[in-house]
Amino acid sequence: MARTRVLIDTDPGVDDAVAILLALASPELDVVAVVAVNGNVSLDKTALNARRIVALAGRDDVPVAAGCAQPLSEPLGEESIVHGHDGLGDLEWGEPAVALDPRDGVDLTAALIDEAPLTIVAIGPLTNLAALVERYPGIERRVQRVVVMGGASFHGNVTPAAEFNIWTDPAAARRVFDASWPITLMPLDLTHQAYLNDEDLAYLRGLGTEVGRRTAAMLEPYAQFHERWYGSRDVIMHDAMAVYDVLDPSAITNQGARVAVEVDGVYSRGATFIDRRREHTESPVRVGVSVDNERFRSLLRERLATYRH
Ligand code: BDR
Ligand code: CA
Repeated sequence: MARTRVLIDTDPGVDDAVAILLALASPELDVVAVVAVNGNVSLDKTALNARRIVALAGRDDVPVAAGCAQPLSEPLGEESIVHGHDGLGDLEWGEPAVALDPRDGVDLTAALIDEAPLTIVAIGPLTNLAALVERYPGIERRVQRVVVMGGASFHGNVTPAAEFNIWTDPAAARRVFDASWPITLMPLDLTHQAYLNDEDLAYLRGLGTEVGRRTAAMLEPYAQFHERWYGSRDVIMHDAMAVYDVLDPSAITNQGARVAVEVDGVYSRGATFIDRRREHTESPVRVGVSVDNERFRSLLRERLATYRH
């Protein structure tokens, strides 16, 4: 079986952690690097969290590097506490057995693009990818595909208009969507169809492994946040959808769309205008529309159960 070569650009984040664990447990994927970006929490924390998760998976062969510490757009507001103060639900962790790769994350991404066909799974703000196309003109033409978790066709989460990853750095998102590379976008209206419930958390605890216990423990405060905010403990698996789309491209239906990003709006910073009024066959962007959550949950359970520690 030919494995898809994947780089994960991420701001862990509890759902980022699940996405990374899913990718690292999937034989269809060859994860060649994990690159951190400022987002859910600051870059020092997201880089540490990426090392924690790759170490939890027992994969010290996968380089973890740090990319951009600051968005291109003006930073707004306080650091988010949706994922806890540390970004992973505030558990106790020892020093991770995976060191930070000294290479700059954006330069590492460019080097990996030049080695062999690469799919980029971008599950945080798009700052690193904007820096990539800025620093290496034309590099987007050598990328196989970019799968982005971000945006919303209908309404946002951080504001009524905007989804968190795009709102955090709309200028970067605009650059990424203006570059001509094949993008598959997983917006909120798709990701809200994919969630884990209390039965899944109990299943993970019952695996009797460190991966199972820690994943359930990270998800618990995230479930409590969902209950406070949405009135249900079902935890939405935003970022895992981007990995799932690479694992099993038939699992998520999509359509050709045109995407524009609002950068400076008074009320609409970070809004994504996703034109789904017709099938845009001329556009390099496809947008995820629907997913079968039962099929996703059972694959996620199966894959997380393969960890032996
Ligand atoms: C996105 O925002 C972050 O909080 C999540 O990790 C996900 O990438 C969902 O809007
Ligand atoms: Ca994320």
